[in-house]
Amino acid sequence: MEPYTDKLSVGNATIDTQHKNLIAMVNGIEAMIKARDNFALPQAFEQIEHWLCIHFTDEEDIARAIKFSFAGNKREHNYMLKELQRMKTELVNKDGIWSDGAAEHYSNFLSSWITNHVINEDMLIKPALKNYPYNFKPE
Ligand SMILES: [Fe+2]
Repeated sequence: MEPYTDKLSVGNATIDTQHKNLIAMVNGIEAMIKARDNFALPQAFEQIEHWLCIHFTDEEDIARAIKFSFAGNKREHNYMLKELQRMKTELVNKDGIWSDGAAEHYSNFLSSWITNHVINEDMLIKPALKNYPYNFKPE
């Protein structure tokens, strides 16, 4: 997807910074897939998985602290972590070598996932966050 801009802000510094970094990571992975950089991919997957876990936990903590119901997002988070596991397993099973079709499929999947996550899912919390300072952090 396009790099992060302020248009994508949901009104919280932690979430916005993480989105910015995640978008950059997804774009990096897409470029690696396109370049068939099978050497760098496994580590990039580990990295994005690590940061996604942190991001989802922070988002859920913030939502809980401001009493915003994030049930749909929690489901979406679990689904994404499962899909990522599946991609990683498949990458290992194929010795890091995907068919053209699989590479394109996963690349599209990742970029539409991050777009949907930020623009459709997380934007829902924006009105609720308006009542809190931009750098709000749960206790
Ligand atoms: Fe998010």
